Amino acid sequence: MPRHLIDIHDLSVEEIAELITLGEDIIAKPADYQDAAKRLKLATLFFEPSTRTRLSFEAAMLDLGGSILGFASQDSSSAAKGESVADTIRTVQCYADIIAMRHPKEGAPLVAAKHATVPIINAGDGGQNHPTQTLTDLLTLHREFGQLHGLTIGLCGDLKFGRTVHSLIAAMARYPGVHFVLISPKELDTPDYVIEQIKRGGATYQECRQMEPAMPKLDALYMTRVQRERFFNEADYVRLKDSFILTPDKLKRAKKDMIVMHPLPRVNEISVAVDDNPRARYFDQVRYGKFIRMALILKLLGRV
Ligand code: ASP
Ligand code: CP
Repeated sequence: MPRHLIDIHDLSVEEIAELITLGEDIIAKPADYQDAAKRLKLATLFFEPSTRTRLSFEAAMLDLGGSILGFASQDSSSAAKGESVADTIRTVQCYADIIAMRHPKEGAPLVAAKHATVPIINAGDGGQNHPTQTLTDLLTLHREFGQLHGLTIGLCGDLKFGRTVHSLIAAMARYPGVHFVLISPKELDTPDYVIEQIKRGGATYQECRQMEPAMPKLDALYMTRVQRERFFNEADYVRLKDSFILTPDKLKRAKKDMIVMHPLPRVNEISVAVDDNPRARYFDQVRYGKFIRMALILKLLGRV
């Protein structure tokens, strides 16, 4: 049976620690891994737009000495002619050893995994999960703080539709002493099933409507984009899109070593003036994304 990554819970805390250690080693000694996936192929099947996730998966496989194939939009595949996810997977696995897939429908990568004889990686499914962004976020937090337990994380913006938020909470809730500060407009509150995961994991949380009062207690502030493509109604999006805009001024009351994260793409929610602030880590996250995906590919291919 192939090993898949559909939900971050598919990895134990111990396995996440191993991936972080491997990611760190690849960052330190990339040449040691340049042939680690030689003659193997990764397919990237993206039924939804992406810049970072698709390109970092492809760069990861190329840097492991492997090859890549795939498509970057639904329109350029036979899905546009009505082909099912199951039949797409049955086809692509004839040509590739591992598949990364992004899809607008929640659960599509799980369906893919049910029909797969090769590992399937969920590269984002609708408003539900984005486990490889979470691995990137965990590597970023670990490099910064040397640990994942005991951190206070502020999550701000679209906590309802933001799949990176859902996966990050699911992952971090398993570490002792983690506290979440959930900052959103009421309409974009964290879904109940995600709150349940916080409670089950033994972490604590508070919900608030403003970022300023929370600022002094945070170790990391994770900003998110309002997910326009998940709204039923454009007027609601327009009303909510600028609910939170982070500026250098708002960071003045933050702890000395607090960091600002964002999965990107950014629209308006972090002013470009923050980019030069020493707290900004969002472009570091982009860079680490390739290394942790190299580690994940090796793990799922059974090469480590
Ligand atoms: N790139 C991330 C995602 O695909 C975050 C975002 O699009 O806002 O979920
Ligand atoms: N963070 C992220 O998933 O970016 P893309 O949507 O550009 O892949």
